[in-house]
Amino acid sequence: MTTGRFITVEGIDGAGKSSHLAYLAQAMRARGAEVVVTREPGGTPLGERLRELVLHEAMETVTEALVMFAARREHVVRVIEPALARGAWVLSDRFSDATFAYQCGGRGQDRRAFAALESVVHPGRQPDATFLFDLDPAVAASRQRAQQRTPDRFEREDEAYFRRVREAYLERARADPGRFRVIDASGSLEDVRGRLAAAFEAFAA
Ligand SMILES: Nc1ncnc2c1ncn2[C@@H]1O[C@H](COP(=O)(O)OP(=O)(O)OP(=O)(O)O)[C@@H](O)[C@H]1O
Ligand SMILES: [Mg+2]
Repeated sequence: MTTGRFITVEGIDGAGKSSHLAYLAQAMRARGAEVVVTREPGGTPLGERLRELVLHEAMETVTEALVMFAARREHVVRVIEPALARGAWVLSDRFSDATFAYQCGGRGQDRRAFAALESVVHPGRQPDATFLFDLDPAVAASRQRAQQRTPDRFEREDEAYFRRVREAYLERARADPGRFRVIDASGSLEDVRGRLAAAFEAFAA
């Protein structure tokens, strides 16, 4: 029987997801739960190897999406489902919404085909809550420039690509308002933390 809860954070590159992960994990632990913090692509030894490939190796668009789903299948079977089954809370930095946003929204892949694939990779499983960090791509890009690290294949995409990704995320949020909590990710870290904390408390209450 599943008793745990599955929480994901989503949003374009540089929106601020990872900056608030430790806070969310601590808020979950404060409720007495075992918390498993994980990420996509990745989350398993094989998934992390696939992550390296998909972030840095040139590949065709459908191939890219299939690698994402392959890594996700390992993640679901080996990490997410076992953790939920023992009652843990799982906090994942990205999940399937990212594929619909990046590969479908960003790169124009067919959503229906990917919905079919999703039902094979994680049948009957969706996050219980998804915190979507929503930010203007120009602001996200300027935050990333301040980081001064080598951008991966996705981070090198132009602003128009990230506008499509952002819009695809917002479209999914509108289609499933019960699951999504859209967080305005503009302003200072403290501003965003306040909005996130309020949204998390409302969810977990
Ligand atoms: N509210 C904020 N104001 C200014 N800078 C921020 C804010 N939130 C995060 N940052 C900075 O912006 C950069 C990107 O943040 P972060 O790594 O959390 O984004 P991300 O959504 O996880 O991106 P990615 O998808 O690429 O992993 C980091 O250098 C972080 O310190
Ligand atoms: Mg991150």
